[in-house]
Amino acid sequence: MKIHRLKGQIQNIFIAEYDEKLLLLDGACKSDYKIIYTFITNDLKRKISDLKLSVVTHIHPDHAGAAQFLRKKFNIPVAAFKTIDLWYSGITGKIQHLTDIALAAYVILKSKKKYKSIYYKRKLEANYKLSDGETLPFFSDWKIIHSPGHTSHDICLFNEEHKILYAADLILEINEKFMMPFPVVFPEIMKLTFNKISHFNFNKLYIAHGTAENLENPKLLFEKESELFSGKVPKKFGILKNFIKFSKCARNFEKIYFSEMK
Ligand SMILES: [Fe+2]
Repeated sequence: MKIHRLKGQIQNIFIAEYDEKLLLLDGACKSDYKIIYTFITNDLKRKISDLKLSVVTHIHPDHAGAAQFLRKKFNIPVAAFKTIDLWYSGITGKIQHLTDIALAAYVILKSKKKYKSIYYKRKLEANYKLSDGETLPFFSDWKIIHSPGHTSHDICLFNEEHKILYAADLILEINEKFMMPFPVVFPEIMKLTFNKISHFNFNKLYIAHGTAENLENPKLLFEKESELFSGKVPKKFGILKNFIKFSKCARNFEKIYFSEMK
């Protein structure tokens, strides 16, 4: 198995290549579908039907858009955490979805890249709705780890055989500094997630924003979570976080999460 990293409009795109199949580790921006398609057909010289599954680690625009499009166009099924569609539900969810698209568009414009539409549906309707610890369909060497904090339904992907963790947005690397994602909606739960992740046996870490695969001991990042928390978060993300926390699904999530732990 080989992992390829491509540069998407906002984030990295990871494709795991096997002799007989391909796996898209995260759903990317809608506009990234062309990059994915071209890489598979031109660079790898494989059929798009070799792509057996797209994973959506969470429903943000840079993690879900291309997966939705690839399913619509080529029938490639999508797997995600079972509660993913609660996140953008209701009126507050609708506002949140549009706000997240606007923020993602702002990031693209700021990077001076050519803007292409990243609009996608707020409901994923995943073909495979997975629970914590389940393996991926068609790829039993990958296990999902429920890792809430950034949202209620984030997942990481863990490959025990190759000791790889794909952590999506759990950690960002910006200007060679590792930090928490924007926003961390549930800081207390995020601390528990970091602790949980630190117990998995991996020595290679892949993340959606920045580079972490060259770290000698990536587990240290999860053991020293308090250092990452101390990084300053821009004020606008604080406002966004409070708005999200006000939404019905976020309010209920915290209550349910802690009651299930008792
Ligand atoms: Fe995100």
